[in-house]
Amino acid sequence: MAARPGLAAGSRTCVALLLCLVASAVAAASAEQLARGRYLVHAGGCISCHTADRDGAIPLAGGRRLETPFGIFYAPNLTPDRKTGIGGWSDTDFSAALRHGRAPDGSPYYPVFPYPAYAGISDADVAAMAAWLRSIPPVHNPVPAHELPWYLRSRWLMLGWNLLFFDPQPFQADPARDKDWNRGAYLVRHLGHCGECHTPRNLFGARDDSRELAGNAAGPDGGKVPGIRQDREQGLGRWTLDDMLLFLELGMLPNGDFAGSSMSAVIDDNTSQLTGDDRRAIAVYLQSLAPLDSP
Ligand code: HEC
Ligand code: HEC
Repeated sequence: MAARPGLAAGSRTCVALLLCLVASAVAAASAEQLARGRYLVHAGGCISCHTADRDGAIPLAGGRRLETPFGIFYAPNLTPDRKTGIGGWSDTDFSAALRHGRAPDGSPYYPVFPYPAYAGISDADVAAMAAWLRSIPPVHNPVPAHELPWYLRSRWLMLGWNLLFFDPQPFQADPARDKDWNRGAYLVRHLGHCGECHTPRNLFGARDDSRELAGNAAGPDGGKVPGIRQDREQGLGRWTLDDMLLFLELGMLPNGDFAGSSMSAVIDDNTSQLTGDDRRAIAVYLQSLAPLDSP
C-alpha cells in the first residue's frame, strides 16, 4: 500500500527532473548561440563600420561616416532600438540584408555594405549573429542620411548593379583541401571580407575576383591596399606562418612596424578577437594563394 504514493512521488520527481534537464539544455544552447553570435559579429568586422568614429561611441550604434569614391555613407544603428535601429527585425529580414543586400521593404542596399562577401555566410552563423544583436541593449541613435551625388540617390539603381555584379552563392567547402584551409577560405572570403579592401575593383566598384587579394590601388579610404597573396615583392611571399599569426593578433609587421590606416581597425575589432585556430586557418588559406602574373 505504501509503495504506490512513493512510486507516484518518485515519477513526479522524475518528470520534474526531466523538464529541468530539457529546460537547461535549451537555455545552454541559446547561451552558446549568443556567445557564438558575439564572436561572429567580431569575426565579421561589423564593429569597425557600425560604430561612430569618436571617443565614447557605443559599439554598433551606427553613425560612422564612410567616405567612398561614390559618396559619403553613414553606417546604420544595429542595436535593437525599434525607431533608429533594427529592433523588431525577424531572422528573415536580417538574413535578407546580410546575404542578399535587401532591406525589409525589398529595396537594395548600396554595396559599401559588404553583402557581396557576406552572401556566403552559413544559415547557422546568420541566425547566431541575429540572436546576439537582438540581445544587446537598444540605443536610440538616429543616423544621418547618406550624402550622394544626384545620380546615385535612388537605391533602386542598385538593382541594376546587383544584376550585373552580384550572384549570391553559399560557401562551398573544397573537398580536396583540409579543414583549416576551408575554414580560412570561409573567414577570408565571406565573414572577414578581406577582399572588400585587398581585391581590385572595376569601374563600377565591383570586386574583380580573378585577382583575389592581389592588392587594390584605390582602397576604401582612398589609399593603396597591399596585395596579400604569396608574391615575394608585393605580397606575403617572404612571411612565415608565425609572421602572419603575429600580424593578425597584434598588427605587427615582420619589420617591427605596426599596421596603419583601415587595417588597424581590422586587427583591433576583428582578427585580434579570433581564436588562435581561426587565425591559423586564415594564415593557411593566405599561404595557399600563389602569385598572379602582373595585370
Ligand atoms: C565596410 C563597412 C561595413 C561593414 C564591415 C558592415 N556593414 Fe553593415 N552596413 C554598412 C552600410 C554603409 C550600410 C547601409 C547601406 C545602405 O544604406 O544601403 C549597412 C547596412 C547594414 C544593415 C541594414 C540596416 C538597416 O537599418 O537597414 C544591417 C542589418 C547590417 N549592415 C549588418 C551588418 C553586419 C551584421 C555586419 C558584420 C557581419 C556588417 N553590417 C558589416 C556598412 C558596413
Ligand atoms: C577596411 C579595409 C581592409 C580590410 C577589410 C582588410 N584589410 Fe588588410 N590591410 C588594409 C590596409 C589599408 C593595409 C595596409 C596597412 C598599412 O598601410 O599599414 C592592410 C594590410 C594588411 C596586411 C599587411 C600586408 C603588408 O604587406 O604589409 C595583411 C597581412 C592584411 N592586411 C591581411 C588582411 C586580412 C587577412 C584581412 C581579412 C581578415 C584584411 N587584411 C582585411 C585594409 C584592409
